[in-house]
Amino acid sequence: MSLWGGRFSAPSAAEFKQFNDSLRFDYVLAPFDIQASQAWAKSLQQAGLLTSAEQQQLHDALGDLLKAVQANPELPLKSDAEDIHSWVEAQLIDKIGATAKRLHTGRSRNDLVATDLRLFCKATCEQLINANLAAIQQLLLFAERYQAAPLPGYTHLQRAQPIMAGHWALAYVQMLQRDVSRLKEMRKRADVCPLGSGALAGTTAAIDREALAHELGFRFASENSLDGVSDRDFALDILHCAATGMLHLSRIAEDVIFYCSGESGCFAMSDRISSGSSLMPQKKNPDLFELLRGKTGRVLGQQHALQTTLKGLPLAYNKDMQEDKEGLFDALQTYQQCLQMLAFAMPELSVNEAHAKQQAQLGYSNATEFADYLVSKGMPFRDAHHVTGQAVLFAQQQGQPLEDLDIDTLRGFSDLIEPDVYAFLELDYGLEQRRAIGGTAPSAIKTALKHANDWLHAA
Ligand code: ARG
Repeated sequence: MSLWGGRFSAPSAAEFKQFNDSLRFDYVLAPFDIQASQAWAKSLQQAGLLTSAEQQQLHDALGDLLKAVQANPELPLKSDAEDIHSWVEAQLIDKIGATAKRLHTGRSRNDLVATDLRLFCKATCEQLINANLAAIQQLLLFAERYQAAPLPGYTHLQRAQPIMAGHWALAYVQMLQRDVSRLKEMRKRADVCPLGSGALAGTTAAIDREALAHELGFRFASENSLDGVSDRDFALDILHCAATGMLHLSRIAEDVIFYCSGESGCFAMSDRISSGSSLMPQKKNPDLFELLRGKTGRVLGQQHALQTTLKGLPLAYNKDMQEDKEGLFDALQTYQQCLQMLAFAMPELSVNEAHAKQQAQLGYSNATEFADYLVSKGMPFRDAHHVTGQAVLFAQQQGQPLEDLDIDTLRGFSDLIEPDVYAFLELDYGLEQRRAIGGTAPSAIKTALKHANDWLHAA
């Protein structure tokens, strides 16, 4: 039976019903809808609108329904109910008859769906935080393993300065830590209960909305019924978290794809996470990381889609808002899956240490140290930069690295240069100099690893 129909003299056209119904995707809200209904029944009883016996009956029947849905989440899909709210009510009427028809007293699907969706977002937020923590843990293990493994670092995709592979992984730890803090912030903002807003103008039932909010685990009751039923900022917020998180995953994916390429060869993936080509027998492709990068577009798109749906919507509820769900569910599921795949893939990724070390020394990536050497001998940095540039140009024309130029040649660029310059040009020297907080020196990495591990244990 539909939740409405008394004022209609003809049934819905099948074509319209098919277009209008949302059960095929909002069925995932069942546990939250049931939980919200149990709390609502309790409020109705406290307001004198249900007897204790009726409330108990509703509570038990809803509890049974919850168990049935937990055992088989797709159970609602067997029905042709309009949406999950209609399905829950129809199930109750089937089971306990007349009392079930009292449950919708003083409430609307408008405040109910907003409540269900907030409960869903809060629960999903928790899962996303945990998925981020698991990914951070794997990034940290990688960082620990390769804390002393040099790697070429790039700007503009041109060799810039050597870094440690561990330092590279720790950069992504920072990003994911921010993603966790963004999710926690979002969870706070979603912690407002709209139930008891009625259809738009508030409920006529004399319920204690704050007690109801607390019963459902919310901190606050929403303060304006029009806003309560039509606010979806919390969905935009969590989509923003997902979009930014995916953006980070797409960047790590791009780095890994590059470092695994034939052109770089600094990283290697295990066969377990690589795929081949149907035509080219030699290929070993980074599909896993390409999917992380590719799925980012989908999540960013869902964020944009919901923003566009909400733009210009008049108060209060409009059916446009039913469009908040499919994209949201898809985006959050995609984000969670990608985090899980990152955590899964990190142990399957290794640094080709000897090759990476050799690569880290190419491309005049010790030129900054050469300039620093001149500065240490008293030359102003701007002049040192220019002199070093001339030395690099010369060395490049000779097809030699800076450290292979003999001392007389080097002194041709500045008579401040002495044989102790060669120590500055060694790979380890450049790496070890970057000891200030956040640098790539082994000592700085040790501190960063400790901070990140402490953070993870406290999270
Ligand atoms: N399926 C609807 C949605 O997801 C539930 C709310 C329906 N409210 C209404 N007045 N038709 O938005």
